[in-house]
Amino acid sequence: MSAPAASSERASESVQQAGAEHVEPLRVGLLGHGTVGSAFARLLAERSEAIAARTGRRPQVEAILTRSSGSFEEVLDGSEVVVELIGGLEPARTWVLEAMSAGRHVITANKQLLCEHGEELFDVAHSNGVALRFEAAVAGVVPVIRVLTESLASLDVDRIHGIVNGTTNFVLSAMERGASYEQALAEAQASGFAEADPSEDVSGRDAAAKMAILARLAFRTPVKLADVPYEGIERLQSDDLQYARELGLGLKLIGTAERIGDGLSVRVHPAFLYGGHPLASVTGSFNAVTVEAEAITEITLSGPGAGGRATASAVLGDLVSVIESGRGAGRVPAAAPLRLLEDTESPFYLHVEVADKRGVLVAVAAILDRWGASIKSVLQRGLGDNARLVMVTHPLSEARLRAAVEEIGQLELVRSPPRAIRVIEEEFT
Ligand SMILES: NC(=O)c1ccc[n+]([C@@H]2O[C@H](COP(=O)([O-])OP(=O)(O)OC[C@H]3O[C@@H](n4cnc5c(N)ncnc54)[C@H](OP(=O)(O)O)[C@@H]3O)[C@@H](O)[C@H]2O)c1
Repeated sequence: MSAPAASSERASESVQQAGAEHVEPLRVGLLGHGTVGSAFARLLAERSEAIAARTGRRPQVEAILTRSSGSFEEVLDGSEVVVELIGGLEPARTWVLEAMSAGRHVITANKQLLCEHGEELFDVAHSNGVALRFEAAVAGVVPVIRVLTESLASLDVDRIHGIVNGTTNFVLSAMERGASYEQALAEAQASGFAEADPSEDVSGRDAAAKMAILARLAFRTPVKLADVPYEGIERLQSDDLQYARELGLGLKLIGTAERIGDGLSVRVHPAFLYGGHPLASVTGSFNAVTVEAEAITEITLSGPGAGGRATASAVLGDLVSVIESGRGAGRVPAAAPLRLLEDTESPFYLHVEVADKRGVLVAVAAILDRWGASIKSVLQRGLGDNARLVMVTHPLSEARLRAAVEEIGQLELVRSPPRAIRVIEEEFT
């Protein structure tokens, strides 16, 4: 028994030696050395031997540019692959374009850049025959870009739903446990899950940029941030979450990109989910994306959406992929782009505070009926002289719902502006 083991060890040593002779360095230029950039440099140093054994190329960081050190020319001259981890539009756009025009493969985690200048970047990557990889730009380490551009590339995607912002998911999870919005946000900041200035996250803007990127890839249609209506979580109240729980609903900030006929709707807003939806159980700072297509029904991917080391591992995965294939998510064909839609149908949760008088429910229901909204479920709670009506409608267009809400708000018996939140009805149980 010992002889074969010894000979297999020798064989493996000689394979390693033979491999080592053929290992060539791969020079990586790093733009940015902040949270993700420094974590990437550390992870690369830790993993370079393993990558060399697997690919025959040993990646090493040759040059680093920050605000206070290095130069773009040094990074360009010293690299075959440029990794952009600066963030923002400029100078990132100029440097990424120059690097690709000079024949360098580029890896970036920059959602703003891809969202605003995606077509230009894909075209320049394609015309220079270089890879442009950006797995870390959406949902951190969750490999949704690869799944859309490779695993599911042959399918017609019908719909994507995503929890693509960890800060807001953390805040909503805390509100479901009874915290107010302000308490939940303070807890997120204290735990490092929200920035000192959380406005990009809580307004829904960060999620909208990520959904624009996913929509572009899944539906091969150019979508920019300006095309994505978004609504954040700032005005949500914890009692909405408590009432909704009685109706079997949980609240998330959901990004949606869906094909409707020959149109495409991309949007971000708070939405209630029934317990059977795969995103209903995603709590805390995790991100998750569901992709629906006729052939696959639905798949869900979930994992950490941010953090230096997790994000750096997605960047490093892109680097291995570039080494192995030499190419990446190149130009996304826009041969038959879909028409972008502004209004879509959905069921709505509606919360109305009214005087506790006879006929008020009938008056509210009559307005909803006039605007084409029928009621699926309703809760009524007494509050002294007032009462609270909480209901879920059957699907109707947002424009009709808003018109009905405005009219209900003008009823003499209504005590405060009604609140409306979308409901996602699908369940995959
Ligand atoms: N942090 C996360 O968890 C996360 C998750 C997913 C994606 N991302 C994306 O990853 C990218 C990097 O994020 P980060 O959190 O690592 O940012 P960060 O901590 O602010 O680091 C940015 C780095 O870029 C450098 N830099 C910025 N502007 C520059 C300029 N004009 N010239 C030269 N260097 C410049 C900074 O230099 P100094 O060191 O001199 O300031 C710093 O080293 C962004 O696109 C972000 O959206 C981040």
